[in-house]
Amino acid sequence: MADPTLIIVPGDKSITHRALLLAGIARGRSLVHGALTSLDARSTGRVLRQLGVEVGPLTRGRSVAVIGRGRFRAPPNALHCGNSGTTARLVLGLLAAHRFRATLTGDRSLRRRPMGRVTEPLGLMGARFSPPGADHLPIEIRGGRLSEIRWPLPVSSAQLKSALLLAGVAGNVRVAVSEPNGLSRDHTERMLAALGLAVTTRDGWIVFDPGKPVPPFEVQIPGDASSAAFLLGVGVIGCRPVSLGGVGLNPTRIGFVSVLQRMGARITVAEDGQALGEPVGAMHAEPGPLKLTTIRALEIAGLIDEIPLLAVLAARAEGLTRFEEVGELRVKESDRLAQIANNLRALGYRATGAGNTLTVEGSDHPPRGRVVTGGDHRIAMAFSVLGTVPGARIVVDNRACVDVSFPGFFEMLAKVRGTR
Ligand code: S3P
Repeated sequence: MADPTLIIVPGDKSITHRALLLAGIARGRSLVHGALTSLDARSTGRVLRQLGVEVGPLTRGRSVAVIGRGRFRAPPNALHCGNSGTTARLVLGLLAAHRFRATLTGDRSLRRRPMGRVTEPLGLMGARFSPPGADHLPIEIRGGRLSEIRWPLPVSSAQLKSALLLAGVAGNVRVAVSEPNGLSRDHTERMLAALGLAVTTRDGWIVFDPGKPVPPFEVQIPGDASSAAFLLGVGVIGCRPVSLGGVGLNPTRIGFVSVLQRMGARITVAEDGQALGEPVGAMHAEPGPLKLTTIRALEIAGLIDEIPLLAVLAARAEGLTRFEEVGELRVKESDRLAQIANNLRALGYRATGAGNTLTVEGSDHPPRGRVVTGGDHRIAMAFSVLGTVPGARIVVDNRACVDVSFPGFFEMLAKVRGTR
């Protein structure tokens, strides 16, 4: 029987997006259990409905039925991707293979994020964009017959990699991509392979070979390792251990565990199952002292979303921690590099964010002050974790933005602290 003290985090955001999208282009009825029901996941559900896919409500505790027709239909109006970069980029990939016009847009944060990295290779495959060479939403795409591509990605990015792989799947053409700086999360590759499609890795190239359509499927979405990371962080700098169950343990997602272990944190991970090609299991963290580390370029892709959390934990470690080659943080939901450094300084720490490097000097003073999130969910959650240390007095300017990825975050935070 499951340990009753184990905390179960909500479903994985990246895997939820991919499960809904792949079910959306399958012909027939798929069933997604344990889907994340956050605002970002709902954006993908909403966009799919506009494209003619039947998607049941994304409501906590309910499985989501998706009925696809094998192809999308032209949407009656613009596709609003909300705050979700994954929705925008992956949907662009799928639409590249559809012969109709569609306009994608998003909220203010999403409209400032770069899309040229996706529209350029999709354009080479045969999709048309308006304005031509478009780098920012709103963008109109007109897809069609695609040609194959062999594309070295300019940055290691799962959104970019997945957009191209999904274009290959929907357009039935070969796609080969390589990543320059370490492997980004490989959920798309694992899911396609688990569904019987041909994805292989050869000599550093990830290759999709066409042939089979996506079949309808049933999947249990693992808990989100990135959401788990925040709660484990409370265990590491807090006063009591934290145990989580049913968490996705994909090695391309849990780079933060090795970094924290290197910093002296007592964290353990134990796999106890698999779901559609993804390892799943338990994670446990115990309080203890932390020391400095350097996080290098090749590690970044495997912990990209955990840098805000690692930075606030580094603020509690002994010595100066360096994050190298983290320029990609500037084009996330906010300029996270600036946001992390500015907020740490506002709370009395020494931190710098210049060029592509972030440095954080640890201190045991009680953090006090106001955190400006810029509406960025991961900044809000990371600094709320820092707010759990003894003597802290931190006001986070926007708590509601956590709903983008982790509805119920504050309740769970209170639960792991034992204050609820
Ligand atoms: C994601 C990929 C990452 C990550 C984002 C989710 C995905 O972005 O930051 O939260 O689901 O593919 P990049 O691929 O742009 O690094």
